[in-house]
Amino acid sequence: MNKLNLIQEIEKKLLGVSETPFLDAKFFVEGCEQKGVLISENLIDDFIERRKKKEPVSKIIESRGFWALDFYVTKDVLDPRPDSETLIEAVLEQFPDKQRDLSILDIGTGSGCLLVSLLYEYKNAVGTGVDISLKALEVAKKNALPYKASFYEKDFYSSDFQKGLARYDIIISNPPYIKTDEVLQLEDNVRLYDPLLALDGGKDGLEAYRRLAVVIKLILKENGFIFFEIGKGQAQDVISIMQSSGFEFLKSYKDLGQIERVLVFRLH
Ligand SMILES: C[S@@+](CC[C@H](N)C(=O)[O-])C[C@H]1O[C@@H](n2cnc3c(N)ncnc32)[C@H](O)[C@@H]1O
Repeated sequence: MNKLNLIQEIEKKLLGVSETPFLDAKFFVEGCEQKGVLISENLIDDFIERRKKKEPVSKIIESRGFWALDFYVTKDVLDPRPDSETLIEAVLEQFPDKQRDLSILDIGTGSGCLLVSLLYEYKNAVGTGVDISLKALEVAKKNALPYKASFYEKDFYSSDFQKGLARYDIIISNPPYIKTDEVLQLEDNVRLYDPLLALDGGKDGLEAYRRLAVVIKLILKENGFIFFEIGKGQAQDVISIMQSSGFEFLKSYKDLGQIERVLVFRLH
């Protein structure tokens, strides 16, 4: 059976299971191809069963496209989201010289998709990624193999968070920002398959920003920039938090859905 026929066979089995049966089948077949996995009937049945339970295709094939690259993903990392590409666009606009030897810190790096995408764009940059999850860091390390990057297990709530870190030109972060009581209402494909650690931003969803507004002052260079991804409707609150901590608000960027998604600040 040729590739298209195989995709169409699997597509038929996904009718009523997924809203995007053709794309699911295509990503599945191509994901197996890339990994050199032979597609058997058993493997297809397993795929359909997992899709019935709303497991995202990316988590099944352990791969997700983001910006210009394919990223290895597991159950231990947040699935890279298209909305997060807004952060890459924001950095590129604020730092148009791609030859600069920037130092970039990614707080809550997860799969490393943000940091690695920036290292792909800025060939002379050096990256550092930190995360509280050791398992996430293992994934990020794999994704960052071709780049100049190091990774550390760190909790940004701990009192010695800054220990061992340098001062950076750019700090990026997509911290957990969903209100605790909203996490349970998320769609199954997120609630069941993305790590809770990556989602829960505390009672009002803003806890991580309050903490980061304090600690990043210790590790950002003078005139350094911070790029935050934020949740829907959080812009004014996060701007207030950052301004109270002495940061200058520079710009907000909207995602493809016209939602304010990324805020840029500078420290003088
Ligand atoms: C929303 S995910 C973002 C992952 C990735 N940067 C992305 O954009 O796809 C947030 C990440 O922050 C990490 N995290 C949560 N709490 C943390 C903490 N207290 N200290 C360090 N990292 C934390 C989670 O493990 C998760 O990987």
